[in-house]
Amino acid sequence: MQKKTVRTGIVGSGFSASFHYEALRRIYGTNVEIVGVHSKDQQQGRVYAEKRGLRFFETLDALLDGVDVIHVCVPPMAHEPAAVAGLKRDKFVICEKPLTGYFGDGSKDFHWDRADKQVALEAAMASVDRMMAAERGSKGRLLYAENWVYAPAVQKEREILEKTGAQILWIHGEEAHSGSHSVDYAYAARCGGGVLIGKGCHPLTAALYLKRVEGRTRDGRPIRPRSVSARTHAITRLPGFRDEGHIRRDYYDIDDFSMMHIEFEDGSIADVFASDIVLGGIHNWLEVCANNHRTVCNINPNTSMQTYNPVEKNFDDIYVVEKIGTKQGWACTSPEEDWFTGYPQEMEAFYRTIAYGEPAESDSHLAADAIATIYTAYLSAQRQGAAVEVPTSSCRA
Ligand SMILES: NC(=O)c1ccc[n+]([C@@H]2O[C@H](COP(=O)([O-])OP(=O)(O)OC[C@H]3O[C@@H](n4cnc5c(N)ncnc54)[C@H](O)[C@@H]3O)[C@@H](O)[C@H]2O)c1
Repeated sequence: MQKKTVRTGIVGSGFSASFHYEALRRIYGTNVEIVGVHSKDQQQGRVYAEKRGLRFFETLDALLDGVDVIHVCVPPMAHEPAAVAGLKRDKFVICEKPLTGYFGDGSKDFHWDRADKQVALEAAMASVDRMMAAERGSKGRLLYAENWVYAPAVQKEREILEKTGAQILWIHGEEAHSGSHSVDYAYAARCGGGVLIGKGCHPLTAALYLKRVEGRTRDGRPIRPRSVSARTHAITRLPGFRDEGHIRRDYYDIDDFSMMHIEFEDGSIADVFASDIVLGGIHNWLEVCANNHRTVCNINPNTSMQTYNPVEKNFDDIYVVEKIGTKQGWACTSPEEDWFTGYPQEMEAFYRTIAYGEPAESDSHLAADAIATIYTAYLSAQRQGAAVEVPTSSCRA
């Protein structure tokens, strides 16, 4: 079969725009022509473009003129407008996580601690509905860039579920490290909340995905989340937090620790932890306890490679593993971090959907369930952990 060519544009020129570009370069099933980049920060955008031999576009509209797909690599509060603009022009949209959210009431003194989480849930779901309506009216599709779905360990678990017809009884998982690099991350009004949404979305969506796989394998329909109990905390904002310089602590109004207990329609359960208070490098894992097997997905760190380095400075220009505080001593050095994280597999799969119409594993329906679960969790946390039902709407059936 002759490879199809797809013309691509990148929106945003920061951290995620960089790993999207690297993953695009590794696509083998489709010819990808990267047309250019548009970014609000024009200076950063021009440097990004020049470094990669791309054209910089001053407006999103101008970029949309010449592409079939856009990558939305901008802060969460800018996802909906960019994605809807792309879908309205019949483009495919690959949208970073979280799909969307609630970004405050527009007032200068908006503070997440005081925000009414029922209002947040309703506003976030209204945003989801608008994005899904735009997708329904478009020749393009909304693809959800949740890399955990495409992490090789999670896809291997999908194969096990499909081939053994397993019933998942309990999933538990975590994403944690010592704090995001992003300035925007400190403000709920820019990111839709704190660590529960920012990091919790990853293991949560993988859990939601695997229960979908179980359901579609057995009955042809996904098993969806029914209710959530959650707690959130702001440990580094405690007056008594003793800062030794290892953990980021300049958050304005966000949670830096969260736990969600999810009950699915079939009564099975998942527990998801997310935090910004964990030293020792990134900690991303998911464990599946099923009726016929048990799986531990060590996404990062894992023991595919371990190094011992007696002198810190010897490894000065060697990348070891995400968010590690020191390179001295033993480390779980990752020989191929992007691969274990699922970035290249995710892009290969999305471009097969775009070019050849293959089904997408991480689509807008999965993203919508993740947003519904996350904001229900924030409402539960406001109620000190009481179980709250996850809302459904017709467009998310
Ligand atoms: N999947 C992952 O592992 C992962 C990792 C990091 C970030 N992310 C997600 O990627 C997104 C971006 O995060 P980041 O770390 O790249 O942030 P960043 O701050 O590094 O970059 C954001 C970029 O968006 C641009 N921008 C902001 N508003 C814009 C707008 N309205 N139109 C055009 N450009 C705009 C900025 O100029 C900047 O170039 C977030 O949604 C974040 O959650 C995902």
